[in-house]
Amino acid sequence: MDGPAKIPTVSLVDSLIYNLVHVIPSYLRGIFTPNRFWFTFWTRVHPDPASVKFVTRLRKKYRSNYWYLHMLTTKSLVVLDPDGIRHVLDHSPDIYADAKLKRTGMSHFQPDSVTISRGDEWRERRRFNESVLETGHGLHQYAKTFLDVVHDETATLLGQAGNQLVWEDFAALFDRITMRVIFGSGVRDTSMTEALRKMMRESNRGFALSKSNYFDDFYAAMRRNRQEARDGSLAALCNSVPSTARTKVDNQITHWMFAMGDTLAINTVRALALLCAHPAAEEHVRNELGTADLSTAEGINQLRYLEGCIQEAMRLWPTTPMLVRETVKEDVLGGATIPPGTQVLIINSFTHRDRETLPFADAFSPDVWLRDSVDYRFNHLSNGPQGCAGKELALFIAKAVIATVLTGQRTSLERPPLDPSRPLPYLYNHFQVRLRRSVA
Ligand code: HEM
Repeated sequence: MDGPAKIPTVSLVDSLIYNLVHVIPSYLRGIFTPNRFWFTFWTRVHPDPASVKFVTRLRKKYRSNYWYLHMLTTKSLVVLDPDGIRHVLDHSPDIYADAKLKRTGMSHFQPDSVTISRGDEWRERRRFNESVLETGHGLHQYAKTFLDVVHDETATLLGQAGNQLVWEDFAALFDRITMRVIFGSGVRDTSMTEALRKMMRESNRGFALSKSNYFDDFYAAMRRNRQEARDGSLAALCNSVPSTARTKVDNQITHWMFAMGDTLAINTVRALALLCAHPAAEEHVRNELGTADLSTAEGINQLRYLEGCIQEAMRLWPTTPMLVRETVKEDVLGGATIPPGTQVLIINSFTHRDRETLPFADAFSPDVWLRDSVDYRFNHLSNGPQGCAGKELALFIAKAVIATVLTGQRTSLERPPLDPSRPLPYLYNHFQVRLRRSVA
């Protein structure tokens, strides 16, 4: 089934069905930030909004792990072959660069950010991101300060909340953590987070985007906050790590704000919901917490099983359901020649749940991550040169929040329910999460 010399094109009817059952629901759920109404609607009315069953059928029908289909009006190459996926990611962005839809939408709120850059600009911005986020270093030099922020903000949340915790509590918690990790303690300017969210909602449209009314005020606040950045914050590091006009420092920070405030919050809440629904895994995590010194950054860092639980939440419900690329030069993929300008799709929401290749596809399996945290079959954090530059930091903050929430109290999942004895659903509506707290 691998390596065709000529890649099949799916029929018009199959393309149409794919657009109706996958692309349009996905678009309405929100490309850059989830839309509450549509997310709830599709989770309720569509048993397979991620199109896992349909893609499985297409693979069988066309007997290939590569096929062309039309995503809306753009002819696109779908890559299901693990070797092909690795090849694409290992050559991003040099051959497989950002695609038009992503560039158009993201330029609305973070023009010139690394993830929509190419060539020397990408190299310079990637270098800058890696220097400040300390990508691949394990513990960030300010990890203890970040941990203190998490402890402080989570304690405030738990002190104020009643016996229930809902999505809005976590959304507000992550907004506060994000502002303090990025700009330092004392910065509580919520207008920036609100403005960013509004721009991201606008960018979900993906077309006819003129300059946002929020753009200038947002970047003026960004410059102010960066100038006043407190010691021990990412923005303070930005002021000391070398940069040039080409780096576009402020535009890089916007990406961190959205990834930490929005994406990380969603994944952390889903990991908590999974843990509450799987008593054996929760017990395992509680034992791990019991043997670690949770007051130190090193103690948080060594929570490997908890980290596996967070990775699983991301694998099961990837917040980037599809990686989209565009070839900038001709290449050979799976034995076939791919011309420049081809849109390439890696469907995480399918490959992560492929029952024919993954025995644990629809189950919560944190152990999988104890072996290796780099696995090209799973690209919720992406892999290769353009993989998530904030991976370690994101996992550290998520672990710190969950460890703090679980310590000293029991939490149970009230809704949306998850049944560990059945295959896990293809989408999980974090907007409706409600946890009940009681003393441990
Ligand atoms: C759970 C939270 C997060 C998830 C699931 C996530 C996921 C991803 C994914 C899938 C990509 C690749 C996107 C693509 O190529 O289309 C990416 C890129 C990136 N992420 Fe994250 N991310 C998370 C948190 C963070 C955080 C907290 C930061 C920074 C503080 C961050 C910084 C970046 C950067 C800078 C890139 C662009 C890398 C490049 O294009 O060279 N991420 N992330």
